[in-house]
Amino acid sequence: MENSKVKELISQMTLEEKAGLCSGLDFWRTKGIERLGIPSVMVSDGPHGLRKQADKADHLGINESIKAVCFPAGCATASSFDRELVEQLGETIGRECQAEDISTILGPAMNIKRSPLCGRNFEYYSEDPYVSTEMAGAFVHGVQSQNVGTSPKHFMANSQEFHRMTSNSVMDERTMREIYLASFEGMVKKEKPWTIMNSYNRLNGTYLCENKEMLTDVLRREWGFDGYVMTDWGAMDDRTASLKAGCNLEMPGNGGTTDAELVKAVQNGELDEAVLDRSVEEFLNIVFRYTENRDTEAVLDLEKDHAFARKAAEESSVLLKNEGQILPLKKEQKVAFIGKYAKMPRYQGGGSSHINSFRVESALDHAKEVKNENIIYAQGFDDAADQVDEALFAEAVEAAGQAEAAVIFAGLPDSFESEGYDRKHMGIPQCQNALIEAVAKVQPNVIVVLHNGAPVEMPWIDQVKAVLEVYLGGQAVGGAAYRILYGEVNPSGHLTETFPKRVQDTPCYLTYGGEHDRSEYTEGVFVGYRYYVSKDMEVLFPFGHGLSYTQFAYSNLVIGKQEITESETFTVSVDVTNIGDRDGKEVVQLYVAPQGGTILRPVRELKRFEKVQLAAGETKTVTFELDRRAFAYWSTEIHDWHVETGSYAIAIGRNAQEMAVSAEVKVTSEAVIPKVFHLNSTMGEIMADPKGAAVIGQAMAGMGGEETEQMAKETENGDESGVINEEMYAAMMEGMPLRQLISFVPGVTKEALLQLLDAINN
Ligand code: BGC
Repeated sequence: MENSKVKELISQMTLEEKAGLCSGLDFWRTKGIERLGIPSVMVSDGPHGLRKQADKADHLGINESIKAVCFPAGCATASSFDRELVEQLGETIGRECQAEDISTILGPAMNIKRSPLCGRNFEYYSEDPYVSTEMAGAFVHGVQSQNVGTSPKHFMANSQEFHRMTSNSVMDERTMREIYLASFEGMVKKEKPWTIMNSYNRLNGTYLCENKEMLTDVLRREWGFDGYVMTDWGAMDDRTASLKAGCNLEMPGNGGTTDAELVKAVQNGELDEAVLDRSVEEFLNIVFRYTENRDTEAVLDLEKDHAFARKAAEESSVLLKNEGQILPLKKEQKVAFIGKYAKMPRYQGGGSSHINSFRVESALDHAKEVKNENIIYAQGFDDAADQVDEALFAEAVEAAGQAEAAVIFAGLPDSFESEGYDRKHMGIPQCQNALIEAVAKVQPNVIVVLHNGAPVEMPWIDQVKAVLEVYLGGQAVGGAAYRILYGEVNPSGHLTETFPKRVQDTPCYLTYGGEHDRSEYTEGVFVGYRYYVSKDMEVLFPFGHGLSYTQFAYSNLVIGKQEITESETFTVSVDVTNIGDRDGKEVVQLYVAPQGGTILRPVRELKRFEKVQLAAGETKTVTFELDRRAFAYWSTEIHDWHVETGSYAIAIGRNAQEMAVSAEVKVTSEAVIPKVFHLNSTMGEIMADPKGAAVIGQAMAGMGGEETEQMAKETENGDESGVINEEMYAAMMEGMPLRQLISFVPGVTKEALLQLLDAINN
């Protein structure tokens, strides 16, 4: 509907009707106004399938929803590093929404994985904001291509489940921009989601629902968001304040309590009615965008979507280890499938994303379907409690001993990770660890298939030959796992998060969760691999890691320009060759690493990636375009992105730790951060400034500075080891405030220094 018509409709509404449109009708529907032809529409979870509740409603996945398809969760689909696949997933879910008359799917979920312990990491994409924003963007694009809205969530800084409804995420401006906002930024700017869901928590003291800086200044003004913001379910704090801040819709409905508050606020002059009008206008534009583009022909094709769910799981699984090329297995081999998850895979997480799957396909089901009769099965463990079941245990060890290889389907039980609470540790149940170790004693060829939504510790890693991470891979995960194990599919997923060796190694280990509802993000921008790589720390599996049944070689890295000014864009190309004898897919990862500079930055950051398919022996040239943002950091001096002049390494990495080829580019900044020097500015700071260096250099020469320097170098402390050499002198001078020249350089006066400062500053 044209905006003028929406405005016209609003002009015909009573104050009560307008206020009424600011909250839901019930758990899942928005309100309509019959006399004006304004429809009521439905929204639904999300994000990896439909959780449409026809009867009893709830936001924790307790009551049943319609039968639907459970696609792989975000932790898995992000690992595909495949924008096209994720876009296709969005299209599929968008079509399902049209078939079920759902105006908006509540997703993608895209909070940053700050700690592996976050109970809801399985829904989220990455520890890296670029991967997160790219994957979310692809999903949004796909859904919205079907004229259905998305609600990227939870905006923002909602990286823990502990006290998620009241906790205050406290962080500095740079961390907020470079990590937590950056996760949403690219997606919002490029894909214009129809709606956004604000998170429950507070950010630096203010609830997100009433955070004007986030909802209006950043989201709408800076990024150009033009849809409506809805609260997470029950996240409303102060209705009037949140309307003013830019939160349009309160969900779910509350029987009109807060609508009445809005009416009163307008009547007593606390709220300008124009603010209410604008909010309703933003909301209705989206409602009509859906209703006027309804696809009444769309049908829910569960079988077709199940097949896509399997394909998505195949593309998303990550082969973490494959010693001696034990995988792929051969159908002729006698193999023991061990573990409950071979028969009943754990394929989704608990909470609001929980799908009522119309079918679940296990690895054993698939083996049967393809008539593999060389598989024996033993349950090995029960995941209801972390207890060794002696009989199941013994049976599994025996089965493993009889086979040529054992595949253990292990992972996290439902109770270990879910929306609503965080994990207490990073382990899988002890009974499963014990089982893997016992099986490895009788069987040299052990393969572990992991079902989990976030990194786990693997105390047995050296005792097993292979590990395949299938994450929470959706209802067809079993078929996907089988096809990868037996080489029908060549694995191509890569980790979008680091697997640390132990939870104690994680960057926010000491502060995660916080105290008294205050969670300090003290690790700053050093989240995930930004921390491990900068500390040169050994991890279990690094960000970006993923093996294939073939191998890839990189060569011929070509940088379009060796020297650029920051406003220039340039291309980087690299050749990637499949040097094995199987077709496969590789994720080409481009990292940028500042070489020096004055800002504390991660050693390197991922700036581009592309997934490419290569036939055996084939070479492809992959080309990326880089712009200033690839080199920029968020400056808290100018409150904007800034590029420091200097050299930057551009490297193609197999993962965040292992660079294959690298080159350097020199970037010259075009923006000068205005600086005012004073008597307490250090010599280092002043000399780093071109004008400062010129003025001081000239003055030093005039003051006999060279002699002073020489004198300093010759000063001895009594023995040879006390001689101050040139390097030491320079290091000392670097941190010396200007005012100290009065004491150290004969003839220098305060007045003279003030004159110098005048010359530098003006
Ligand atoms: C979750 C949201 C979800 C909503 C509705 C909340 O508890 O945080 O992600 O969309 O419930 O179910």
